[in-house]
Amino acid sequence: MPATPTPNPQPPTPVAIDFFAVNGRIVPAAEASISVLDLGFLRGVGAFETFRTYDGHPHALAEHLRRIWESAAAFGQKPFFDEAAVRRVVREILTRSGHAELRVNMVVTPGCHGEGVFGTVGEPTWVVIARDVHAPPESSYLHGVTAVTFQSSRHLPTLKTTSYLSGRKGLELAAKAGAHEAFYVDDAGYVTEGVTSNVLIRVGNRVMTPTIDCLPGITKAGVRPIAEKLGLTWYECRITRDDVYTADEVWITSAVREVLPIVKVDGRAIGDGTVGEWGRRLRNAYRDHCIASARRDAGA
Ligand SMILES: Cc1ncc(COP(=O)(O)O)c(C=O)c1O
Repeated sequence: MPATPTPNPQPPTPVAIDFFAVNGRIVPAAEASISVLDLGFLRGVGAFETFRTYDGHPHALAEHLRRIWESAAAFGQKPFFDEAAVRRVVREILTRSGHAELRVNMVVTPGCHGEGVFGTVGEPTWVVIARDVHAPPESSYLHGVTAVTFQSSRHLPTLKTTSYLSGRKGLELAAKAGAHEAFYVDDAGYVTEGVTSNVLIRVGNRVMTPTIDCLPGITKAGVRPIAEKLGLTWYECRITRDDVYTADEVWITSAVREVLPIVKVDGRAIGDGTVGEWGRRLRNAYRDHCIASARRDAGA
């Protein structure tokens, strides 16, 4: 019998959180501001991460920090805060806001504009924005959600930069179709990733997921050993739109959504159009893993 998952915390309506952190200093939301000269604003130069807390503790924080510094290296930014600083900020926001769980966005930019197109003066910028987790309702995991595909690609797709404009068209199409996510399809017809998620398909006992031209997802990496332990074989390979249409199961992964089953893509039913057993098992096992590892990291 699969273990009963701990359900997502579901506040009836999102409750505002009144504190954000700017350069490590927690301030009321109304005072949380950065300069109009910030290169994040002027030139769209920035890196970010989204992670969530479980039981009040950040999950996979070391991995998210590693990735934000890899992304920030694209604009020459070296690490300037550490895991302890993020934990302190998150703990303080949790305490002050009275929230049990948070979705945390962490944004880094080079700071204010100086000489030249990308020249800077002063210190880089670091902002932490914490909100309600606002994960999909349990019904989305029970019945699955739908997706559309669209032809486009994300700028610097292996990095998590703040340039997400290429996904806008996809999300507009998704909204029109009443779908949850839009999958990027490149010029050669390969599905690379979702606008804010990784894409995985199951065919028999094989899980296939692209690693080219997409973000190396932290959730996906966490799901892999669980899938392998449960008896699935993991392949990192290109997948076409047709591979997706004809898969037995399709899932998306992201820090907030964990493993979310997709039951229809471009109006075509995946498998029999209902949530498959593997999607359910992986999500439950992954969620249990997140809770356990967040508690372990916090105690370490
Ligand atoms: C473009 C893109 N790909 C993949 C992901 C999934 O990454 P992770 O599992 O690390 O949240 C995200 C998450 O926001 C994303 O924005």
